[in-house]
Amino acid sequence: MKEMLNVALPKGRLGEKVYSMFEKAGFPCPQVMEQTRKLIFENEECGVRYFWVKPSDVAIYVERGAADIGVAGKDILLEYNPDVYELLDLKTGVCKMAVAAPVGFRDDPRKTLKVATKFSRIAREHYLKKGRNIDIIHLNGSIEIAPILGLTDVIVDIVETGKTLKENNLEVIEDVVPISARLIANKSGYKFKNEAVMKILNSLTAQLEEKAE
Ligand code: PRP
Repeated sequence: MKEMLNVALPKGRLGEKVYSMFEKAGFPCPQVMEQTRKLIFENEECGVRYFWVKPSDVAIYVERGAADIGVAGKDILLEYNPDVYELLDLKTGVCKMAVAAPVGFRDDPRKTLKVATKFSRIAREHYLKKGRNIDIIHLNGSIEIAPILGLTDVIVDIVETGKTLKENNLEVIEDVVPISARLIANKSGYKFKNEAVMKILNSLTAQLEEKAE
């Protein structure tokens, strides 16, 4: 029986985009794009098995070896620091991690800064570098509400178009780090299924170069 390459795709638009890149790389499995509730799809002939997972869970599947490769945002890689290989910047899912505050906010350095975020480690490291005293309040979503309701002074969050900030009367006061989607590999999967992984890596690299020209 042919050995299968297990690929964790982030559910959503980003996952669909990267699936089409994998398809072009010689690993098609068109059922993946069918809008069903099914989560696992395989093409035995091509030796590939895809599964849809929550974007923030891709790195866990890959780190633990349930997936050989996957696509994860740099935000997740920085926040959870999984023990995986980061093989390629896919130059998609581009956004940034930033500090945002209500328009007109002035930081008072004598006071501990209250920060709401889903990305506690990224926020902590950012302020550690600056030597700024902070109090992190970890939230799971709708972070923008926190400074509006006075729960915190600022937020550290993903900004893509800036629309969410604008509509909530917030603005970026500092960029933290640029973010984009990355191809990641399990360390032993990379070694033992190297031929398939390299086939994908080389094709994705070529596809990106072609696009850049
Ligand atoms: C992210 C982020 C912002 C929004 C930014 O939220 O937390 O709320 O996208 O995008 P914009 O700059 O284009 O407006 P996401 O949709 O991932 O949901 P959640 O954080 O509330 O779970």
